Amino acid sequence: MGQGTPGGLNRQGLPGDRKGDGSNKKEKKFEPAAPPARVGRKQRKQKGPEAAARLPTVTPLSKCKLRLLKLERIKDYFLMEEEFVANQERLKPQEEKAEEDRSKVDDLRGSPMSVGNLEELIDENHAIVSSSVGPEYYVGILSFVDKDQLEPGCAILMHNKVLSVVGLLQDEVDPMVSVMKVEKAPLESYADIGGLDAQIQEIKEAVELPLTHPELYEDIGIKPPKGVILYGEPGTGKTLLAKAVANSTSATFLRVVGSELIQKYLGDGPKLVRELFRVADDLSPSIVFIDEIDAVGTKRYDAHSGGEREIQRTMLELLNQLDGFDSRGDVKVILATNRIESLDPALLRPGRIDRKIEFPLPDIKTRRRIFQIHTLRMTLADDVNLEEFVMTKDEFSGADIKAICTEAGLLALRERRMKVTHADFKKAKEKVMFKKKEGVPEGLYM
Ligand SMILES: Nc1ncnc2c1ncn2[C@@H]1O[C@H](COP(=O)(O)OP(=O)(O)OP(=O)(O)O)[C@@H](O)[C@H]1O
Ligand SMILES: [Mg+2]
Repeated sequence: MGQGTPGGLNRQGLPGDRKGDGSNKKEKKFEPAAPPARVGRKQRKQKGPEAAARLPTVTPLSKCKLRLLKLERIKDYFLMEEEFVANQERLKPQEEKAEEDRSKVDDLRGSPMSVGNLEELIDENHAIVSSSVGPEYYVGILSFVDKDQLEPGCAILMHNKVLSVVGLLQDEVDPMVSVMKVEKAPLESYADIGGLDAQIQEIKEAVELPLTHPELYEDIGIKPPKGVILYGEPGTGKTLLAKAVANSTSATFLRVVGSELIQKYLGDGPKLVRELFRVADDLSPSIVFIDEIDAVGTKRYDAHSGGEREIQRTMLELLNQLDGFDSRGDVKVILATNRIESLDPALLRPGRIDRKIEFPLPDIKTRRRIFQIHTLRMTLADDVNLEEFVMTKDEFSGADIKAICTEAGLLALRERRMKVTHADFKKAKEKVMFKKKEGVPEGLYM
């Protein structure tokens, strides 16, 4: 017994130690093997006499094992908890970190920023930029700017003081051009135009039909016209017709006034024209309407000032753009002017703007129609006889007729009458005609 016990103890100690080691490495594997050791059946088979001596030492061991088991459970739980907390810490700050990074980038960018032009890339981190003010600078590019997208000529955001490149303007479309896009259709429709049937038909054929049914032109084998020019006396409805086109068409409608194409800095005018047609191409099918084209399209002559030369360059760019896109392309141009004779012949030669639509002063039938349109919403007294004004020999434009109607309405309003009488119309007509004649110098010498 005395010998057996230490031997048993030793043997017990060894497996116990091993178990202790094992619990660190693989606890789960050793657990099933433990119960037989406690019962001691295997040992008894191997070493029968020692089996009895071993049993007492097993009991505290099983307690320890229970404790171990319990502690291991707790450890497992702690491990799980630790993992959970770690995950929480790993996942949560990602949003916060992004937020932090973003605010840091914003700090670096500084605000306000200024917009400039990238002239040249020198190396990975340096470039030459120019701002609209004039001089060019050698500056750094901040690391968070996407350098793949930088290319000479693109619009960039610059730090306001050190001028380093802090961002890239994705959309290099001049903001001026996006303003030109007509988002909200004008209220005027074809129904608001009195007469001008031939003109409406012509503009539909030349502008809308090629956009909606290009195959018709292909069948016949002709190229649809690139655009039309509307010309005629002031107030004959040129702008009105263009508005009606914009109202009815489903194509993108871009509208510019000729004077808008004249820019402050050299080269900006032609650039704007280019940009305009590029946007028109991007958004095609589209219609470009340039009102009062005589602002840039006047005949070329020996220009004395730089400003005049710049205007000519703008017009040359316009010619270039008219030639540039193919005529079957989905961009149509409508020009409007009331001084067609002062326009450069190159602009109007066949192949560019070859469709000229004249807007004459309204004839009797048209006058009647225009009067109808403008008096439609007015409350007229019974004695009003519009025929008198329709049949008059004076020359009226559509705008004059509108002015007469408005003036008559105002006269009635002045006397707080609810209805507009014939006398109002008469007075209004005299007033409008007087105002119109006032501007004509010949009247003075007659
Ligand atoms: N045929 C018409 N039918 C109805 N209203 C007309 C007609 N012609 C002109 N008007 C009226 O006259 C106003 C001015 O016309 P519009 O602006 O089209 O003139 P315009 O031909 O563009 O003149 P300008 O050459 O001076 O620019 C219009 O708002 C419209 O109310
Ligand atoms: Mg006009």
